[in-house]
Amino acid sequence: MTDTTPSADLGASPQQPAKAWSGRFSEPVSDLVKRYTASVFFDNRMAEQDIRGSLAHAKMLAKQGIIGAQDLADIERGMAQIKGEIERGEFAWNLDDEDVHLNIEKRLTALVGDAGKRLHTGRSRNDQVATDIRLWLRDAIDRIIALIGDFQKNLLDVAEANAATPMPGFTHLQVAQPVTFGHHLMAYFEMSRRDAERFADCRKRVNRLPLGSAALAGTSYPIDREFVAAELGFDEVCYNSLDAVSDRDFAIEFCAASSLLMTHLSRLSEELILWMSPRFGFIDLADRFCTGSSIMPQKKNPDVPELVRGKTGRVNGSLIALLTLMKGQPLAYNKDNQEDKEPLFDTADTVIDTLRIYADMITGIRVKADNMRGALTQGYATATDLADYLVKKGLPFRDAHEAVALAVRAAEGRGCDLPQFSLDELRAAMAHVPGAADKLADDIFGVLTVEGSLGSRNHVGGTAPAQVQAAIVRARARLG
Ligand code: ARG
Repeated sequence: MTDTTPSADLGASPQQPAKAWSGRFSEPVSDLVKRYTASVFFDNRMAEQDIRGSLAHAKMLAKQGIIGAQDLADIERGMAQIKGEIERGEFAWNLDDEDVHLNIEKRLTALVGDAGKRLHTGRSRNDQVATDIRLWLRDAIDRIIALIGDFQKNLLDVAEANAATPMPGFTHLQVAQPVTFGHHLMAYFEMSRRDAERFADCRKRVNRLPLGSAALAGTSYPIDREFVAAELGFDEVCYNSLDAVSDRDFAIEFCAASSLLMTHLSRLSEELILWMSPRFGFIDLADRFCTGSSIMPQKKNPDVPELVRGKTGRVNGSLIALLTLMKGQPLAYNKDNQEDKEPLFDTADTVIDTLRIYADMITGIRVKADNMRGALTQGYATATDLADYLVKKGLPFRDAHEAVALAVRAAEGRGCDLPQFSLDELRAAMAHVPGAADKLADDIFGVLTVEGSLGSRNHVGGTAPAQVQAAIVRARARLG
C-alpha cells in the first residue's frame, strides 16, 4: 500500500528528477503543491488501460511510419516488463511523476531509451487520460451488467418459489390489496432490467475513442484514428477534438445509472428491513447478512440492507460531484477533470460490491408465509374486490365504493374482517346505499377470499399466480 495520507513523507530530494514539462520553469513546486496536484496514487488504477492505450497508439505510429519498427518493438518489450512489475506489485509509483501516465512513460524510457521518448508523439495526456477512463469504465460497465444478471437470476428463483404466496400489497404503507410475494419481487426484477438497459446504453457513449485529439486541436502527424479505435475495441472515434478531451458526460451518465440502481436497491433494502422487523415478521434474513448488538442480546440487525440504503447516499453524492465538476467548464481540457476519478472509481466499487452481496442475500431470504397471510386479514384487503363484485352486478362504481366503505366501518365496529360477515349482516351493513344489498349473493364469499382476489387479477402485469409464473418465464427467456 502506498501512503497517501497528508502527513506522509513526500521526500523532497535536493535533486528532483526532471518533470516531463519542466524546461520552462525556474523554480520547483512545493511538496504541498506537488501532492495537491498529483493523481498517481489514485489514477494508477488505470495502469492496465494506460498500457493498452499506449500500445495501440505506438502500433499506429509505426504503421504510419511516424516511429520505426524497432521503436515499436522496444516499446512493446518495455511495456510488457512494466505490466509485469505492476502486477507483481514491484512498480515504484512516484509522486514526482504526477500521474499514472508520466510514471509509466518515465519507466518505459528508463527501460528502452529513446523509443520510450517517442511514444508520446502525436498524443497528449489530455486525450490519453480520456481514453484510459473510457477503457476502464467500459470494463466496469461489463462487470456491472453481468452482476445485475446474477442478481436477477437469484431473484427469479425466489419469485418462482413464491409465485402464489399471498401477502398484503401496500399503498401509503397501509394494507391495500392482496398480491403475491413473487409478484412483489418481480417489481424489482423490472427495475433491475431497466438498470441494466441504462448501463448498456451508457456503454455506447463510453465506447468512443478520444485518442488522436491530442491536447485539444488534433495533431499534425499523419495519424490513423480508426485503426486505434479498432485496436482498442471502440465503436467509433470522438468526432471533435475539443469535446473529446474535455467532456466527462459519459462518466456522469454512468454515475446517474448507478444512482438509480442504488435507489432501487435502497427501496428493496428498506422493505427487507421492515419485513424483518417483528412487527411485520414477513421474512428472516440469513445470519451472514446480519449482526448482533453489543448490549442487547436479542438483537439481529439487518446491517447489509441498511448499508445499501446508506451507500445510496454516497453514490448520489458522487453524481452531484461530477455534475458540479463539469458545470461551467470552458473548452477544452481543464485540470478540474482530474477530480473525476475518485467519485467514479468509488461509484463503480460500491455498485459492484453491492450487487455481489445482494445476489447472495436474496437467496438467504426465508419467507414466513403464515405471517404474510395473517397480515392480509387485518386491513380489509379484499374491500376493492367487494366493490368490483357490486359493479359487475350493475351498481355504479361510486355507489359500490360507498356501500363497501359502510361495510368496512361495520366490520371495524365488530372487530372482524369482511369475509366473517354472514350474507344478511353484509346486506344490513350497506342498507343505506340504494340498490347495493340486493346485488349480494352467496358467490360473494369466493370473491372475498385472498385466493379469489389474487386469481381475478389475471392479465399481463397482474398479480394472479398464473401471471406471475408467466412473468418469470418471460424474464428467464430475456436473461437467456
Ligand atoms: N492527471 C491528469 C488528469 O487526470 C492527466 C491529464 C493532465 N493534463 C494536463 N494538461 N495537465 O486529468
